[in-house]
Amino acid sequence: MCGIIGYIGKDNSVKHLIEGLRALEYRGYDSAGAAFFDNEGRLCSVKAAGRLANAEAKLTPLPDSTCGIGHTRWATHGAPSDTNSHPHGTESLRLVHNGIVENYAAIKTELSDLGYTFESDTDTEVAAKLLDYYYMKEKLTAHAAIERMTSRLVGSWALGILFADAPDTIWAARQGSPLIIGVGKDEHYIASDITAILRYTKDYYQLDEGEIAKVTRETATVYKDGKEVIKELKTAHWDIEAAERGGYAHFMIKEINEEPAAIRTTLHSRIKDGLPYFSSDGFDTKIFARISRVHIVACGTAMHAGLIAKGVLGSLAKLPCEVEIASEFRYNDPLIGEHDLVLIISQSGETADSLAALRLAKEKGAATLAIVNVIGSSIAREADAVLYTMAGPEIAVASTKAYSVQTALLYLLSVEAALVRGKLDLDAAKMRVTELYERVPEAVAEMIARENEIKAIAEKIAPNEDLFFIGRGADYYLAAEGSLKLKEISYIHSEAYAAGELKHGTISLVTPGVPIIALCTVPRLYEKMVSNIRETKARGAETFMIASADTGVADGTADHILRLPAISAELAFLPAVCALQLIAYHAAAARGCDIDKPRNLAKSVTVE
Ligand code: M6R
Repeated sequence: MCGIIGYIGKDNSVKHLIEGLRALEYRGYDSAGAAFFDNEGRLCSVKAAGRLANAEAKLTPLPDSTCGIGHTRWATHGAPSDTNSHPHGTESLRLVHNGIVENYAAIKTELSDLGYTFESDTDTEVAAKLLDYYYMKEKLTAHAAIERMTSRLVGSWALGILFADAPDTIWAARQGSPLIIGVGKDEHYIASDITAILRYTKDYYQLDEGEIAKVTRETATVYKDGKEVIKELKTAHWDIEAAERGGYAHFMIKEINEEPAAIRTTLHSRIKDGLPYFSSDGFDTKIFARISRVHIVACGTAMHAGLIAKGVLGSLAKLPCEVEIASEFRYNDPLIGEHDLVLIISQSGETADSLAALRLAKEKGAATLAIVNVIGSSIAREADAVLYTMAGPEIAVASTKAYSVQTALLYLLSVEAALVRGKLDLDAAKMRVTELYERVPEAVAEMIARENEIKAIAEKIAPNEDLFFIGRGADYYLAAEGSLKLKEISYIHSEAYAAGELKHGTISLVTPGVPIIALCTVPRLYEKMVSNIRETKARGAETFMIASADTGVADGTADHILRLPAISAELAFLPAVCALQLIAYHAAAARGCDIDKPRNLAKSVTVE
């Protein structure tokens, strides 16, 4: 999604803007731009569709400037073009915006009647011109004009604003889209994402809903409802190295390689005397004895992690669990109340649909718990309780290590729920926790060490345009994640199917040569899977089987077999998903795709 960076200090602001925008590229964008004051105090703008390099070319040689704002745009209103790129504005001001102004059409008509004209198709230009109206025509102060303008908007925004007559100030505002103020020595930043400024500072203030900030070289003053608010200075725990590729070809493969360590770090503080321990998270697990149902609500990969939890909560804790797509949940009038726990899973903690689902769950009186990776994100702050995954920054659009830490943590939580509900004895719980903490990271590392074997499989499927992932039980849920990963980065169309369901219609698409990736990590379902694989082979499919270490596979069952490292069936999903991620990665690489920045996608989806 869109990204914002701003700098004011003694250094060259345009240099900081370009570096900040480069760090924000991972969020997904289709144009970029900047506004800055030059050394004569003139307010200048540069913008260009396409990659950041296009805007950068227009900023070379670097203009002298110590104050500016920059933006990467992910098109919502109007196609990617120079004109639709941010900043937008007038002679008197420039503005960059993340979010959506829902009532822009009505305001545009009103401003047109007042004589304003519009160049772009964007909602942002309407906000900029509304601000101009209050500042230039109604002669309000900068602060009052921003307050009036934002009071008129319906939707979400993070804003960075420069006024032409104030070359020593950046204004910022937040409602529904994240924005922070970075604090350096004699310099300040504004940013939509900490990774944009990590190279320079880890200290920041987080803007809360409805706040407006006045940022100068020396000071950052935050206001809410016209009154100054004292903000807590926070320190980011992520290192710049964690947000850089560090010698890997892509962030995605770096992040897959980080999985074993990330799983251990996420679990470490939550295990005590060999048993789950959530007290230091401030989450009272006794709730599992009171509730009658868990609703897991999330999007994309995070939702697929929830599917794995549904299986484990059911089998270990005998706790009914529904997994719901956040964008559906929020409009389906869900039947939830005080006997339900709504569990929101989100890497970014800013996904608009997941956040809206959380708010709805709270409104309906359900208890809420969030599993989130980004500390201090909106979902983390609004849920009744939060369990942070500790994966470090996930930069690649394709989520990998986030899924691994989410599912590992959800498994530990399920063991705890089973203990609280008296469905598991201490020895059985300890055995599971030991395997999760000791064996799972090793098994994932073993899978990664076999990257070349997996690459060979990926290169076989890469030339195809359609394929199927099939599985039963947990393997069906894994299939969903394998299929999503492959689609999003390699653009190969694939479908995840419950293996037994294929013959109820979809097998008509299985023609000679179509690859079938069959997941067989659940021993009790193995024989059934073999029958389903044979059904596809009989129609000429090229079959790939991902099988647990100890399953005896008769010759000829599948054309290619990838064996998982030795691990119990309950936890096989973790090395298995790693194999699926590597298949997607190498298939995309073989097809020459832009792996870390797949077309049309954004890392953090902050619009509906
Ligand atoms: O930040 P979130 O975990 O809430 O994001 C949810 C999805 O947008 C995300 O998992 C998406 O599906 C990934 N690109 C998949 O790799």
